[in-house]
Amino acid sequence: MELKDALMLTGPVLGIETSCDDTAAAVLDAEGVVLAEIVLSQERAHAPFGGVVPEIAARAHLAHLPILLAGVMDRAGLGYGDLGGIAASAGPGLIGGLIVGSGVAKGIAIARGLPYVAVNHLEAHALTARLPGLVPGGAPFPYLLLLISGGHCQCVAVRGVGAHERLGGTLDDAAGEAFDKVAKLLGLPWPGGSALERVALLGDAARFAFPRPLLGRVGCDFSFSGLKTAVAQLVARYPVGALPARDAADIAASFQRAVAEVLADRATHAMKIFAMRHQGRRLLVVAGGVAANATIRAALEQAAAAEKFALAAAPPRLCTDNAVMVAWAGIERLRLGLVDGFDFAPRPRWPLESLATP
Ligand code: KG4
Ligand code: ZN
Repeated sequence: MELKDALMLTGPVLGIETSCDDTAAAVLDAEGVVLAEIVLSQERAHAPFGGVVPEIAARAHLAHLPILLAGVMDRAGLGYGDLGGIAASAGPGLIGGLIVGSGVAKGIAIARGLPYVAVNHLEAHALTARLPGLVPGGAPFPYLLLLISGGHCQCVAVRGVGAHERLGGTLDDAAGEAFDKVAKLLGLPWPGGSALERVALLGDAARFAFPRPLLGRVGCDFSFSGLKTAVAQLVARYPVGALPARDAADIAASFQRAVAEVLADRATHAMKIFAMRHQGRRLLVVAGGVAANATIRAALEQAAAAEKFALAAAPPRLCTDNAVMVAWAGIERLRLGLVDGFDFAPRPRWPLESLATP
């Protein structure tokens, strides 16, 4: 990372997201107003395999990104020469996709002489709350972030751009991963989170008393593998392929309630720790695909109210992977004069707390 003094953001920023199975591009003006955005989900390509196949993902990004970029620039009514910068997810994530997105971003930046930002995908989720107009009254630093996605589950004190303090995280599965695995056990198509939520609508959440891992424990770490195993053991009692729809709905609802209770409990601990360490506004921001779940949002809403925290969750399309958040993280960094060299190598692992502004 290089610090360019007094770099003025002179134009819109293009954001590129290719870290997992969504190919996405977005153009935001220098103030953060979305001029155009496109997300192309690869779900259909991966679904037959029950999970993301890295090789297929990388090839799909390579095939679709150029078309997507042409489309998003066209919708924004801009040429690359009109841009003030380019930002691309550079990790953590699947390396093939990261190389495609970073390579394309660097190519455009080199050709047009634009500043390039290697965005940490987790920081992009973390800073989404600061997009203009999203949180009433804005989201000034510091705030508490609960990131609950397919690959990540952590509580972070977001103190500033590049200044993140991890308060706790998952010891095994991420929350979304648990949803996906349980959905698979119930015979739902991958990715299972939203399908499981739909099935749970018809079920009785009080029927099965699944474990609530780490509930009430000190700190705010998470664990979901025991809960998933309990569901697996229950499902295994039915003959293969003979799980009645009624029972599947009750299992889905009971599982969802267990996850919601655990997340609310862990978030409560995180809010107590955050409030002890940080003065000022009490704001809990929820991000990641699992934040789209209504039961979980309601549980978190209740937990936040009890701790006198305001809860902010982006609309679902900004909770799941998208390029708006990547462009916005780029804008936040460019405003501080933070740019990256073209030698920046994408990173499959890139912990949020390892980021540091010079
Ligand atoms: O943030 P995201 O789009 O991708 C990353 O993992 O970075 O999150 C995807 C995860 C998947 O595990 C998906 O099953 C889960 O979020 N998810 C949900 C819901 N919608 C998506 N989980 C529970 N309820 C939902 N409505
Ligand atoms: Zn993500």
